[in-house]
Amino acid sequence: MRLAILGASGHGKVIADAAEQLGWQDVIFFDDAWPSVKENGPWSVNGPTERLIERVSEFDGVVVGIGNNRTREEKQCELARAGANLVSIVHPAATVSSRASFGPGTVVFANAVINPCAYVGGGVIVNTGAVVEHDCVVGNFAHISPNAVLAGGVKLGQQVWVGACASIKQLVSVGDASIVGMGAVVTKDVGSGVTVVGNPARIRRQ
Ligand SMILES: CC(C)(COP(=O)(O)OP(=O)(O)OC[C@H]1O[C@@H](n2cnc3c(N)ncnc32)[C@H](O)[C@@H]1OP(=O)(O)O)[C@@H](O)C(=O)NCCC(=O)NCCS
Repeated sequence: MRLAILGASGHGKVIADAAEQLGWQDVIFFDDAWPSVKENGPWSVNGPTERLIERVSEFDGVVVGIGNNRTREEKQCELARAGANLVSIVHPAATVSSRASFGPGTVVFANAVINPCAYVGGGVIVNTGAVVEHDCVVGNFAHISPNAVLAGGVKLGQQVWVGACASIKQLVSVGDASIVGMGAVVTKDVGSGVTVVGNPARIRRQ
């Protein structure tokens, strides 16, 4: 079982480690910084995106390991057009309800929880220890950082970034491409394309 990860980042290392624990035997990185970057910790980097696209049929699975939501979306779409088998990586120590669902290219790290009737889109990062409660809807290419909590029925738009240890009150919505800062406590709906921080969260940047 061969897995290609596009993006030789720290985030990519966590995906690689989870993948190995799931039984992927051959994990290989690609990154546009090649040949300046030839390794990512213990894993080798074999070329840029174009090389991965040329060799895409050699891999049983492909996943994008890029933290930036917009770049991750661009790269995942490019790989999908090239016929890549986009896979999801769910760490064996994550808890995902059989009544929850998620799309292709989504990664779920150790101690994360996705509870029943939650729907998580494609290309999403549910980072270490993050909680996606029942009935949440998470848009494509969002990132829920370590230990962030989405209470029941929260809706995140596409490309939303929820910072580490932030909490979002039940039934609250966050619009597309907004950022919830680390540690924020979001008690009311947040529009699109804004950054909110603090407790209670307030708009920091439009
Ligand atoms: C909200 C955030 C995106 C702002 O980033 P930024 O635009 O680079 O902001 P800066 O670091 O320049 O800070 C700007 C101001 O906002 C404040 N600020 C930044 N983040 C804040 C936060 N989470 N809560 C409260 N205030 C915050 C800073 O103290 C600074 O205040 P000042 O102008 O009074 O000095 C960022 O701080 C953040 O929280 N990112 C999430 C990080 C994270 O969770 N990483 C996990 C990755 S797995």
